[in-house]
Amino acid sequence: MCGIIGYVGGGPVAERLVEGLEVLEYRGYDSAGVAFDLDGSLEVRRVVGPVAQLSEVAGGSRGASGGLGHTRWATHGAVTTENAHPLTSCAGELAVVLNGIVENFSSLRAELEADGHRFASETDAEVVAHLAEDAYAGDLVAAVAAIVPRLRGHFAFAVYHRDEPGRLVATRRACPLVLGRGEEGSYLASMSAAFSSRVEELIYVEDNEIADLRGGEVRLHGLGGEPIDRPGEEPGADLVSDRGAHPSFMAKEIAEQPAAIRGTLSGMLDSHGGPIDCGLPSALFDAEQIVIAACGTAYHAALYGAYLLEEWAQLPCRVEIASEWRYRTKRLAPGTLAIFVSQSGETADTLQAQAHAAALGARTLAISNVGESQLVRQSDAALLTKAGFEIGVAATKTFTAQVVALAALALHFASRRGALSEEQASAYGQELRRLPMLFEKFLEADHPVFEIADRISEQQFFLYLGRGYGLPIALEGALKLKEISYIPTDAYAAGEMKHGPIALLSEDTPVVCVATASPTYEKLVSNILEVRARGASVIAVASDGDEEMQHHADEVIFVPKASCELGPLLCVPALQLLALRVAERRGLNVDRPRNLAKTVTVE
Ligand code: BG6
Repeated sequence: MCGIIGYVGGGPVAERLVEGLEVLEYRGYDSAGVAFDLDGSLEVRRVVGPVAQLSEVAGGSRGASGGLGHTRWATHGAVTTENAHPLTSCAGELAVVLNGIVENFSSLRAELEADGHRFASETDAEVVAHLAEDAYAGDLVAAVAAIVPRLRGHFAFAVYHRDEPGRLVATRRACPLVLGRGEEGSYLASMSAAFSSRVEELIYVEDNEIADLRGGEVRLHGLGGEPIDRPGEEPGADLVSDRGAHPSFMAKEIAEQPAAIRGTLSGMLDSHGGPIDCGLPSALFDAEQIVIAACGTAYHAALYGAYLLEEWAQLPCRVEIASEWRYRTKRLAPGTLAIFVSQSGETADTLQAQAHAAALGARTLAISNVGESQLVRQSDAALLTKAGFEIGVAATKTFTAQVVALAALALHFASRRGALSEEQASAYGQELRRLPMLFEKFLEADHPVFEIADRISEQQFFLYLGRGYGLPIALEGALKLKEISYIPTDAYAAGEMKHGPIALLSEDTPVVCVATASPTYEKLVSNILEVRARGASVIAVASDGDEEMQHHADEVIFVPKASCELGPLLCVPALQLLALRVAERRGLNVDRPRNLAKTVTVE
């Protein structure tokens, strides 16, 4: 998934584009590029690598009246300068930047090559430049309107033509595109944070609409050319993209979890832990069963949330991988509430799953950290986590915020369904409200995580185990290690381990166990002894005061004690810090792990 940006106006064009690309870079950092008009022709500057490298070569746009920019997460074609955007037409008179995938690019390319077009890249996106070149007859809006119906897939793209300096035209289908109107000119981008500090008004583009930007003017048209009038919205708070004294955004965002939990709960529970109106329609609580779909880290949060919805609200609840569920499910039982969890609210697999659920007649609820996101805008209702903007590609504070949002939602359901007594509900509510203090207690404590990480950072394989509520936490801990250290790592329900994965163990394999107090604590101890019998080295994350675990595990990381339901959540910062330290020891960029992007807007 990539980030696109465009600017027309009187400001320093290349600077404005690079400034926006720096914000968009978490969306993909394989290569970056800009194009702008200069002395009647188009200047294109591209680099393989981070935006910082691009800013070194993007100067000299004085006199330009507009341009485009792009940061790439490669899907079609290797990471090369030739495959970097902006991509141009045969004669270089127009340039294109695109986020998403043109699914029918190879048939279009064959047609265009048969007509004599010469392609310079292996990308799917370049077909748009050549189609626009063919369709262009002096009006860029007409050209774009002519080519959109020929394209299959999900995308957002913008086009800039040498012969219409100061005019930008763009469109979208499922991938995000927002416009900005400002005193110094107008912008378009994949997300408003790329330019919000420079505009007074935002305009969101819907599917198959064409945006036409000239100077400070911003217009929307339908594919038939009909004008579309859409009221503008005020830009949100500026992004804080400063990591302060922390060595990385990931380290900063791990430390911000107490505030993320506090902020998220403040809109859902009162200071005594009692449910407060969080703006959800009451009909939503008539649900008879729930399905939750998500991807990556959000899927692990959904798993935890489902266990709480079943236990506290006595509601049947299943969790699905969005990209699988979307194509497998043909019908939903009446009374199904479909919940979609996504920090960005832009993940294509989750968006498509939401659209599918809505088409099957389900009521849909989005849980997201981005209020302006597509998922929030296309769902029936939304719960916003208040974790603040997350820049580190590996999700941390948004995971914890998602779990506590689902936990508070479970309490809302429980109290409406009378599934928990008032005392029980208030006890859990108060415990949720105490979580920020317990997270702070661990984060400020003198824990052994770094010392343990330093000792095991050269290991070549890790196994994570958990039971019950500990399983989603073990899965998430393992994912963090995989994402940022690239070490082959597996995670299993501890009871399942002996039915196969135990074969992976060898002398000293580090086995990380989520071992807080739980009804299956003794079963977990047996599993720990099973892996130790194979020579593996067990690192247990256990509740404060659990001296027994010191007899069973090789190392113990103690975390503040909590109930069986919420205890495993206290293990999260320990597992995040373990992964962080191992990756740091290996000299890796923890904020920009290889091959990953913060949000994937392609299926
Ligand atoms: C991946 C990210 O691209 O998407 C993960 O690298 C994330 O960190 C996953 O968990 C899902 O993203 P979202 O925005 O839908 O929660």
